[in-house]
Amino acid sequence: MTELFPVIATYLLAIILSLVVISLSVSLVTTLSNGEAPFVRSKKKTVDLLVQIIELSPQSRVYELGSGDGRILSSLHSKEPRAEYWGVEKNYWPALLFWIRKNIEKRDTVNLKKSDLFDVDLTKATHVIIYLLTKETARLLPKLEKELPVNSVVYSIDFPFPEEQKEPESVHRSPAGQTIYVYRF
Ligand SMILES: C[S@@+](CC[C@H](N)C(=O)[O-])C[C@H]1O[C@@H](n2cnc3c(N)ncnc32)[C@H](O)[C@@H]1O
Repeated sequence: MTELFPVIATYLLAIILSLVVISLSVSLVTTLSNGEAPFVRSKKKTVDLLVQIIELSPQSRVYELGSGDGRILSSLHSKEPRAEYWGVEKNYWPALLFWIRKNIEKRDTVNLKKSDLFDVDLTKATHVIIYLLTKETARLLPKLEKELPVNSVVYSIDFPFPEEQKEPESVHRSPAGQTIYVYRF
């Protein structure tokens, strides 16, 4: 009987790995077919550039819509730990990574909302960060215009709003080849 254990364990591991791969593939196909950005992390040098250009105070309330594994909010928290940070993420894997990172790094003022970004109230945001695809970025603009307080700032990585609808206040190229578009609302 005991010699069967390695065989059973191998089968169980293979089943678990297959389920993980299937669930990741299904989630990727659903995400892309909805025009939503898949989980691709911003490059380290782009995060460094964002940390450099963003102006934060203890009163800041920063939302990252589609926050992935939370590396951006972690870096911003190191810059201004007294501000309040909200990651919004609808997919399980990046949300789980975000939660693990937040707890390992003990980032008390970094919070996660496991939600669709279109369902989140942005009326108290001072800063919004996005790294989404063209279609979703454009779809988000009316919500930002309706809800964001005057003088709040939006940072969009690589995907600008349609030029005829919103002009960037400034544009920053990162050494990693990514671009940060800065918009004032
Ligand atoms: C390109 S990744 C960027 C991740 C992170 N912001 C970064 O820069 O490293 C886009 C993220 O947005 C999430 N996302 C896309 N559409 C979303 C939606 N409607 N609501 C919540 N999250 C969304 C995806 O699951 C993914 O984690």
